[in-house]
Amino acid sequence: MHKNKSHSALDLKKSQVEVSLKQSVKNIDSYTHVRGESLYVDDVNVRQGTFHAVVFDSPKAHGKIKSIDYSKAEALDGVERIFTYKDIPGDNQIGGIIPDEPLFAEEEVHFWGMPIALIVAKTELIARQARRLVKIDIEELPVITTAKEAKEKGSFINAPRSFKLGNTDKEFKDCEYVFEGETFSNGQEQLYIEAQGSYAEPLENGNIKITSSTQGPTAVQKTAARVLGLSMHKIEVDVTRLGGGFGGKEDQATPWAVMAALATYHLNQSVKLILNRHDDLRMTGKRHPYESTYKIGFSKDLKILAYEVEFLQNSGAAADLSPAIAERTLFHSTNSYFVPHVKSTVYSCKTNLPPNTAFRGFGGPQGMFVIESAIAKAAHEIGVSAREIQEINLLQENDEFSYGQIAKQVEAQNSWHSAKDTFNLKELEKEVEEFNKSNKSLKKGLALMPITFGISFTNTQMNHARALVHIYQDGSVGISTAAVEMGQGVNTKILQIAAQVFSIDKSKVKIETTNTTRVANTSPSAASSTADLNGKATLKACEILLDRLKDVASEDLKVSKETIILKDEFVYVNAKKTDLNWEALIFKTMAKRVALTENAHYATPKIHFDKTKEKGHPFAYHVYGTAIVIATVDCLRGTYTFDTVKAIHDYGKSMSEGIDLGQAEGGLVQGMGWMTMEEIAYDINGRLLSNALSTYKVPDVFSAPKNIEILPLETQGNEMAILKSKAVGEPPLMYGIGAYFAIQNAIKAFNPNYKLKFHAPMTPEKVLMSLYSN
Ligand code: MOS
Repeated sequence: MHKNKSHSALDLKKSQVEVSLKQSVKNIDSYTHVRGESLYVDDVNVRQGTFHAVVFDSPKAHGKIKSIDYSKAEALDGVERIFTYKDIPGDNQIGGIIPDEPLFAEEEVHFWGMPIALIVAKTELIARQARRLVKIDIEELPVITTAKEAKEKGSFINAPRSFKLGNTDKEFKDCEYVFEGETFSNGQEQLYIEAQGSYAEPLENGNIKITSSTQGPTAVQKTAARVLGLSMHKIEVDVTRLGGGFGGKEDQATPWAVMAALATYHLNQSVKLILNRHDDLRMTGKRHPYESTYKIGFSKDLKILAYEVEFLQNSGAAADLSPAIAERTLFHSTNSYFVPHVKSTVYSCKTNLPPNTAFRGFGGPQGMFVIESAIAKAAHEIGVSAREIQEINLLQENDEFSYGQIAKQVEAQNSWHSAKDTFNLKELEKEVEEFNKSNKSLKKGLALMPITFGISFTNTQMNHARALVHIYQDGSVGISTAAVEMGQGVNTKILQIAAQVFSIDKSKVKIETTNTTRVANTSPSAASSTADLNGKATLKACEILLDRLKDVASEDLKVSKETIILKDEFVYVNAKKTDLNWEALIFKTMAKRVALTENAHYATPKIHFDKTKEKGHPFAYHVYGTAIVIATVDCLRGTYTFDTVKAIHDYGKSMSEGIDLGQAEGGLVQGMGWMTMEEIAYDINGRLLSNALSTYKVPDVFSAPKNIEILPLETQGNEMAILKSKAVGEPPLMYGIGAYFAIQNAIKAFNPNYKLKFHAPMTPEKVLMSLYSN
């Protein structure tokens, strides 16, 4: 099953270039991170007289504002001013996809934590004290907290969407087995280490500069301009780095930046607004909870013939990114399997929770959990292992996805069989079986989790990026792109590209901050696509500059350009080193008045999607992989640990193995947290109960698997990926889904009467109930 062992002569030459790139690259930020020297928004040098702000937010989830009394708060010594919607010179509107979200509530509030006003004071402490003095009277309205209830009441964000392939109605009649069921997967808090924050400062002529912890600088710029009634060129947004984003800062970094800018606009003074953890948890949206129902049909030999699924997405009180996330759920509803007859529908249900938003995987994990549940249920009912059903239905070359794209360079089978062989699945299964035979109160469960994840923004028009590359006259290089460094290591990858193309030492290259005045009209750093899009633009700019430098060298050395290469900071002619070094070449280029700056644009080729037909080719490529998860359940307590996760992951041809492994391990553990211990809880009044790190627990080193082994799949890579190194940000998160089924299999080994439930997360409480249920 291992493919692609043979190389042509051409391939060999190419792969040597790639291999030299793979030289172990250290994350360029590791040194300053470890020493605490990396700079975040809160570290910005503030001007003298800078004000500090806190947000006054709704203490009810739904209601009419009858009155608000700010007088006591305003009278507090040190309070400068309190801003409400009445102070907005432009539109009180921050909705990106659908204009349905005010920056500040006007007559009504729609979720607990909805911003109503901004209190600006000399210090943050004073602003917080003032917040407690605000009196608000709200006439409460009915609160909806679940998607199901929203659907029953006809409360939606937009119209439902459906993808269709074949004819499920007809096909179900020919199925040997048909199963129906329902599933639930809960939300998940992004829990970026650095909370949301921004710093706005006045420049000349009414211009404003915003430093923001955002994945989307252009979204901040555009929305600030809209709210302030200014043109975009009056607003500059700068991002140094984020202390994590995970999707939570794709759209929801914007309001805080806009609020700070609004106060700066009125006060002509710098304003800093950094949320503390409590405020952040209460006011911001999370991964969408999904309630789903499915119907799945099989042939006698366990081929999936038909699959129908209805997803109810709990979108919260405003659209935010929900429509795009709903779409990605549909794109991933069949995960790694070929299903000839599919009908999938998603409803974005409007509730009174904070607008739920992007989280690593962006709706994909929610879609994949349902088909994995359907397979687990079918396997249980038929009396086979889920693994048998999974294996027999894996995608193959030229299979059609429900959205019309034809699967190419498919690695679903390759990664599955590599995982089985490499990790000796038979032996692992035997060990689990024997352990369960000889243990009463401890049981082990094993599950396989294949993943297939599409790479590109599903909104085709967002797949573009630019890079601005300066070679300074001393031979050092500065690069600006739209890529936001949030810990994922994208800056290191971009730096590698430039150092490789110019064949110069990495210390000669600097990655600049992400700034809207240098690179404009950008897409957010999201969809796992940041390194591909910005890296390809960087590659293009550097190659254009290299070509120009070769022209200068050819003129200077009086040789033809084709004979020239740049290697290790020297010019080579016909593979022979010359005396002309990098610095001298740059100096000569400058002296000849040839441009040492290039700005290149990259737009992903070949992708398209027709929403009227719900068909097209939305993804540049897919990322594949297979994980084996083994859990041990303590059947007296309901607690569990993970013995191991072993995965074969499709990195393509990884350009930064250390960084990619970090992404894979981090994503995996984050996905396991979503499936097992992270439990978002709202009460029936829409108040967040899991509102602190004492009541919301993410995996730490003790709850992570005792052993993680993620090995690269041997493949040819994919030309659409940057230097054939595939996107790695989101896909590994979905290996974590295997954790749910590993625990479930352990429960099955203990309790033969257990009726399978698909209700994530699988907390110890739920495990305990399941162990002793009938
Ligand atoms: Mo990411 S969840 O596409 O910000």
